[in-house]
Amino acid sequence: MIGRAIDSHSCTMSRYTMPSLEERYQNSRQRLVAFGQAHLLTFWQSLDDRRRSELLEQCETLPLEMLRGEFGAGVVNLGHHARAPHKIEPVTIVRAQELDAAKYFAIGEEMIRAGRVACFTVAGGQGTRLGWNAPKGTFPATPVLHKSLFQVFAESILAARRRWGARIPWYLMTSSLNHESTQEYFRKHDWFQLGEDSVRFFAQGTLPSLSVDGKILLAEQHAIALNPDGHGGAVRALRASGSLAKMRSEGVDTLSYFQVDNPLVKVVDPLFLGLHVSHPESSGEVSSKVVAKRDPREKVGVFCRQDDRTCVLEYSDLPTHLAEATFPGGGFVHSAGSIAIHTFSTAFLERLADDPNGLPLHRALKRVASVDLTSGQLVDPPAPNAIKLEAFIFDAVPVATRSMVFETRRDEEFAPIKNADGEDSPTTSKLAQSERAARWIESCGIEVPRDEDDGACLATLELSPLTALDPIDLARRSDLPRHIAIGASIAF
Ligand code: UD1
Repeated sequence: MIGRAIDSHSCTMSRYTMPSLEERYQNSRQRLVAFGQAHLLTFWQSLDDRRRSELLEQCETLPLEMLRGEFGAGVVNLGHHARAPHKIEPVTIVRAQELDAAKYFAIGEEMIRAGRVACFTVAGGQGTRLGWNAPKGTFPATPVLHKSLFQVFAESILAARRRWGARIPWYLMTSSLNHESTQEYFRKHDWFQLGEDSVRFFAQGTLPSLSVDGKILLAEQHAIALNPDGHGGAVRALRASGSLAKMRSEGVDTLSYFQVDNPLVKVVDPLFLGLHVSHPESSGEVSSKVVAKRDPREKVGVFCRQDDRTCVLEYSDLPTHLAEATFPGGGFVHSAGSIAIHTFSTAFLERLADDPNGLPLHRALKRVASVDLTSGQLVDPPAPNAIKLEAFIFDAVPVATRSMVFETRRDEEFAPIKNADGEDSPTTSKLAQSERAARWIESCGIEVPRDEDDGACLATLELSPLTALDPIDLARRSDLPRHIAIGASIAF
């Protein structure tokens, strides 16, 4: 930190000189000692100057002040939720059928046309559960043409730009693990016709892994064990990368946020945008989409009220008795499943980024290979040994004055690809994509073959967003077939 500050000043103020390695070492040492982390310099004597400099750079940028509370926390408060849940009540849900949808849709369309809306995808995760080594957005997701998730989003954005005559920039958050490879993928595909200057990448930050007794771990003798800081890291990274400033300069004041794993997402949804800025339940800061949970154990966060604030409880933190609680007349009390689609005002994100404490950190016990301080050898532990820290973007929800929760249809908007097989896998997502295409095609009066028993579509269908963004769009087309054969595999 100190080195950088002086470095940047030195361009204009020549009386400042770069601090020597020794000075930087002394500064870092003092700071690390103050936070009980001086062991990070254990191997200093055996490092060459290049490695010493690398290690110091990492030490200088460690957010030690922000992590102060974590060092002494040990293994308490493990799990996703930073605060112990108490007095959890169901949340108020806004539903399209209970309001004048056309009015809000028109408001949202006007926002898009006015250039106020940008898309924002968090794509820094590793896709470990899916077993895909490349960036998750490059995963072949569609049922017929096997287009990648990134291509599906890109086509949706292109279609939306054409429909509303708007620029709609696309911001993508990567991590140090996939920043280069993600950009390389887009370069190879010529940014899917979106134009290089409107597809903007920035990498999220990192946080150190801790031993269970609160000591920062070393991944190498000269390198701290770091992991991406969670999608909540987006708040700081949007600011640090200059993205928020860029949005302001371009008149963008609203972000349509979605995860990299859901090919059914509406990348911009006029109805949701209109509700976000003008529904009485919304303060216009952050709004969220939910679907009714499939079953009490579905692995989605749940929207609820806690201490008079709307918030999200991650699935791993929702006690079973609450997950399974039902209303006297039937129906689950906590069924508002988060599909991780939000609308944010950029002013709200600026306010969050200004907060020195930031979003709360969640602590998870994980296996992390680290250097043994006595032997200097890397030890790959057989069992979880370390605390990884992450911030979650949905912790922004309780910060808002009021936060609207809008229920949408799962079969229209949510078919994530998370696991290699079973639930939320490529198979289930492709089926859902094909079924949605079948419904839209049928709504245009075209016959789709269906199983007599369970009604399942007997063809595999894929609709590009460039062909239609919704059934109304599709009905305007004159080039659709009149009939679809059993067993056909067709992409429109
Ligand atoms: C997530 C939500 C869950 C929600 C569900 C809906 C969390 C902790 N939980 O679960 O509440 O109901 O989606 O599908 O998010 N990412 C980053 N950087 C990171 C970590 C993740 O950009 O450091 C991105 C991933 O690329 C992905 C998204 O965040 O796009 C979700 O991450 P993941 O860990 O897969 O969350 P889920 O367990 O699927």
